[in-house]
Parts: sequence; structure tokens; C-alpha cells
Amino acid sequence: MAPVIRPRRLRSTAAVRRLVAETRLAPSELVLPMFVADGLDEPREISSMPGVVQHTEDSLRRAAAAAVEAGVGGLMLFGVPSPDAKDATGSQADAADGVLNRALSLLRNDLGERTVLMADTCLDEFTDHGHCGVLDARGRVDNDATLDRYVAMSLAQARAGAHMLGPSGMMDGQVGVIRAALDAEGFTDTAILAYTAKYASAFYGPFREAVGSSLQGDRRTYQQDSANRTEALRELSLDLAEGADIVMVKPAMSYLDIVRDVAEIADVPVAAYQISGEYSMITAAAERGWIDRDAAILESLTSIRRAGASIILTYWATEVAGWLSSPA
Ligand code: PBG
Repeated sequence: MAPVIRPRRLRSTAAVRRLVAETRLAPSELVLPMFVADGLDEPREISSMPGVVQHTEDSLRRAAAAAVEAGVGGLMLFGVPSPDAKDATGSQADAADGVLNRALSLLRNDLGERTVLMADTCLDEFTDHGHCGVLDARGRVDNDATLDRYVAMSLAQARAGAHMLGPSGMMDGQVGVIRAALDAEGFTDTAILAYTAKYASAFYGPFREAVGSSLQGDRRTYQQDSANRTEALRELSLDLAEGADIVMVKPAMSYLDIVRDVAEIADVPVAAYQISGEYSMITAAAERGWIDRDAAILESLTSIRRAGASIILTYWATEVAGWLSSPA
């Protein structure tokens, strides 16, 4: 018997598909992560992330202006100090003239309140051992000693002009101490985008090149185990109790169930980070002609949005914002 109910009816033309689409993407939901490096004469390509560069201050300012022009919702800055400026405690992270803090001042000056200027609040780019915190005598990452460093780094970033801080080190209590320190110094409007559920992931591989990381080993004593789901909810309650303004899940694509779990409970906006490995996998497969690049990018972003994230960090933010403002 011929079916009476035909779901295909609502898929029959592009116009009707557009009409009934449940998930839409907008430029303002996309945040562009950017790398700024010390000691470069010109931007340096990151070979494992074709199309992404380590910026000079000049190229950073141009790219940031272009992103804002395209309508992206925010910029997330990472600093790459020269290798000889790294040390055990990551001193350049809170030095006012450190690469990241200088770049924040420049962009805040250029862009003012036209965008949301975010800073990665983590030591791994600045430490000579590459860990996200300082080490104790036995070489383990010392949680509470690291919190003191995050406080110093946060204040330096707030003073440099960051609107929003992104503590990404997965130390216990990091959101609470940063909130308290910001408030005590009068930075009550400086927001915290908490890396709430950040998993120890093989997909960060290309990022290590992007920031010239010195890491030996892994981050499994502080980042979450990919086997765990309940743990993300515990991290969520802690971050909310400690005053997180936005909570983030990272990576995105292998953790869409966690994005959904967090989005169902959180009473603050939920972000997800489409990380370096996700970028590079799509880029590499597309370069080989194995997948349709643009379609894969849009599908991946739509799925992150559909899972429940209202903010997406993606290295394609500027390009995709352009597509969304002038649909084909
Ligand atoms: C740590 C940090 C990392 C990323 C963002 N912040 C690396 C890590 O945790 O090992 C990864 C981002 C990406 O892979 O795109 N400061």
C-alpha cells in the first residue's frame, strides 16, 4: 500500500528544506581562535593546519579586523613566546610585555567593544616543560601552586584588555580563584568562559605545532578521560558554582553527547571548541579529494550546534561567517 505519510515531502526542494531546518548557524555564534607569535617577520604557516598561521602583530591586527568585519562573535587569542623565553613557571604569561598580553592590548585598542576579546588563560605555551601548570619536586603538575599562576595571568590579561578569560588548564578550583581575583581588583565585568569538560585528546596534535609546544608525555592527570560522561557533569556543577559565565566542552566532534548533556543542564550559554585535529582531518581529506570541504565544514558546525552548543570556536570562523552572510 502506498504510504500516506511521506516525510520526504519536506525534503523535496532546497526552499522547503530551508523553511523547516531546525538548526541554523549565524556568524555571531562563531569565535575565531588566533595564534600570535614572538620573533616573526611574517606570518608562519602551521604545516599541520593548512590555512592557519602564527601571526605577527601586524597580521594579527589585520586578520582580527577582517574577522570582526565578517561578523564573527569573538576572538580567542593564544600567545606563542620565543623558545628561549619559556621557563618552568611560564613567566611570560603574566608579564605585561609578554606576547599574548601585548597582542590583547593592541586588539582592544583597535577594536574596542566591537568584538568580544578572549584570552587563553593557561601556562602550557609559556612553560619550558609544556604542561598547563607548574611542577612539584617530583615533576607532577601542582594544582594549587598553578592556581596562583593563573590568578597572576588572569589579572595581566584583564589589565591588557581581555573581555573574557578562557581558563583551559583543568586545574581544580581555577574558575573560583580567578573570579575572586578579578572581583578584588575591580574587574567585575571581565567574564569567564570556562573550559568545563576538556578531555585529554589525541586530536589536539596539530595545536602542539601551532603553539610550538615543548610537551613530553600527556595531560592525563588533569584533562578528562574520554571514557567518562558523569565526570563532565561534576565539572559543570563546580564551574557553575565557582561563577563561570559560559561553559565549554572540548573537543567537539567526538564529544557531542557531552555537549548535549551539558546543554540540558547548564543555565548559562554553552560553547564547544572544534579543535585543531578536527580542522586538520577535514582539511586533509578535502585536499585529497575524498570529501567536499565546504559541505563537511558546514555539516560539522551544524552538528555541534544541533548537539546544543550556542557558541562554537572554529578555525573556519571568518570564512564561514562570510558564507552565512551571503548564502549561495
Ligand atoms: C591548552 C589548550 C590546548 C588547546 C587549547 N588550549 C591544548 C591542550 O590542551 O593540549 C587545544 C586547541 C586545539 O587543539 O585546537 N592551553
